[in-house]
Amino acid sequence: MPGIRTGQALRAFAHALPKVELHVHLVGSASLPTVLELARRRPAAGVPTDERELAEFFTFRDFAHFLTVYLAVTSLVRDRHDVHTLVTGLAADLAAQNCRYAEVTVTPYNHLLDGMPGDDLLAGLATGRARAAELGVELAWCFDIPGEKGIRAGQETLVFALRERPEGLVSFGLGGPELGVGRARFEPYFTRAREAGLHSVPHAGETTGPATIWSALHDLGAERIGHGTSCASDPALLEHLAAHRIPLEVCPTSNVRTGQVPDLAAHPVRRMLDHGVVVTLNTDDPPMFGATLTGEYVAVAGTLGLTAAELARLAENAVEASFLDEQRKAVLRNEITEMTLPRTTDFA
Ligand code: ADE
Ligand code: ZN
Repeated sequence: MPGIRTGQALRAFAHALPKVELHVHLVGSASLPTVLELARRRPAAGVPTDERELAEFFTFRDFAHFLTVYLAVTSLVRDRHDVHTLVTGLAADLAAQNCRYAEVTVTPYNHLLDGMPGDDLLAGLATGRARAAELGVELAWCFDIPGEKGIRAGQETLVFALRERPEGLVSFGLGGPELGVGRARFEPYFTRAREAGLHSVPHAGETTGPATIWSALHDLGAERIGHGTSCASDPALLEHLAAHRIPLEVCPTSNVRTGQVPDLAAHPVRRMLDHGVVVTLNTDDPPMFGATLTGEYVAVAGTLGLTAAELARLAENAVEASFLDEQRKAVLRNEITEMTLPRTTDFA
């Protein structure tokens, strides 16, 4: 079957696919107009208030530079209204792309450090989530540890997650830099989070090698891996991920924009697929990287020359890898299958 390279047909198909997003950070999902509005309200934060300057601000020299920028934007988010604005903005963006469900990473420790009361964060998440449901997008939360802030952040994130346990909280994560921030340090917090029923979804292998992914699996009981880019250099790891069906939350444009891979053609996603790894496509921090979920599907399909059926398989992977219940998975699975059958022959 030929690939669906032809631009318009590919775009239309990727748009129409019912999609699931498994790796998107709430702060990183703020649209450019939203960031500008927040920045104008709080000029002392050092985030540009001009559109052109903001685009430059979002041009990253490397991963460390990206994180500095990310934390500056985080500091703009001060109260429940800001949180509500971010959640509803993300939901509207997802709805417009036919994305039905998203697991959204929130980093409570950063907001608490910036002086936001925990109740404000929770209220903004709850009202935003209710509005998202009205827009046809179901949201779930991942509370993650900002790894650069050490074990104190691990402890505080765990306590906040288990004490508050907001509706929709499904998982526990670990973000930030990997270099010098060993996954194993956070083992006690992941163990307790998992005992309490939260799923384990740490970042690993985004900015360091496969040893970090092994550690995420062994020390943190990772059920999915955030990024996992560097697994491609370790045949035993590729085999392990495939055999145990541990999905990767692959974020191709993010990896290009933070300098982890030179371009999409050099991204190891092809190697992952060839080894039978469960690949899901995600955006990470979409406006910061100039990414959209539909765009990730289009870019990967175009670069790899995927068929419509192969592209639909990636959407199915995201459904299967999600923490939705079986009934809701079945609904999405059927929708994908129904639209795939006739469309596949269109591209033949
Ligand atoms: N926080 C926001 N985006 C991130 C990324 N790509 N990696 C680690 N932490 C993050
Ligand atoms: Zn991430």
